Amino acid sequence: MALKAGTDAAAVELTTLGERELRDRILTRPLPRHVAIIMDGNGRWATSRGLPRVAGHSEGVKAVRNTVRAAGEVGIEYLTLYAFSSENWNRPRHEVSTLMSLLERSIDRELPELMARNVRFRVIGRPNGVPPEVQRRIGHVVDATAANGGLTLVMAFNYGARDEIVDAFRQLAKDVRDGRVEPEEIDEVRIGRALYTDGVPDPDLLIRTSGEMRLSNFLLWQVAYTELWVTPTRWPDFGPRDLYLAVADFQQRDRRFGRV
Ligand code: FPP
Repeated sequence: MALKAGTDAAAVELTTLGERELRDRILTRPLPRHVAIIMDGNGRWATSRGLPRVAGHSEGVKAVRNTVRAAGEVGIEYLTLYAFSSENWNRPRHEVSTLMSLLERSIDRELPELMARNVRFRVIGRPNGVPPEVQRRIGHVVDATAANGGLTLVMAFNYGARDEIVDAFRQLAKDVRDGRVEPEEIDEVRIGRALYTDGVPDPDLLIRTSGEMRLSNFLLWQVAYTELWVTPTRWPDFGPRDLYLAVADFQQRDRRFGRV
């Protein structure tokens, strides 16, 4: 069962519902505009089955596809997925190259479906270090889907929130140095515009799979008032029902943004 806020009675009620019932239910209430997901547990999914860790990543791609479909179908506007962190380069070389080639192959293969579903694809993260061929293919899918008006799928790739904040500081420091902005004019809006997520609303709901209770350097500025939902389900087993359960739980929360 998911670890959640809210009353126990409500928790029992939601977790007894199936995918269809949850879907119908969430469509009757305001949806989160932006859902972000830390996709964790691919390695554990694989090793618990006696498979190599990379088998978990391959299976994880299917969960990505199913989650994008499910989010788009109910009308979520933004879905941000943490696909590769700036720390993931420290994994064994074979695992890193498998993740790169999975991404490279997936984005080409998925383009027709992204177009058919009207999904706009966007990437956040530092380009340096990413193989040029992967960058080229990502750029192609970003350009090809730029005019789509449905779900915006934001892939955090070679992403680290502290890198993002460093890059924003550098940009703002240059703006001050070159006389484009006064230090006193720097506010939350200008900082938001200097982040990779410029133009994307802050996440309303952050989901983390595989039970870990940490943020792992993901969207640190943007999640200031985000609701958190952690499930023990490992990413390859995550499906539409889990997404809808998280959203249904979110819809029962009382968001106060620091107010009483
Ligand atoms: C965490 O599992 C997940 C990742 C490192 C990346 C997620 C990657 C995918 C879902 C596949 C490729 C993605 C796309 C978009 C094509 P983990 O290996 O940290 O699991 P563990 O904590 O059990 O070791």
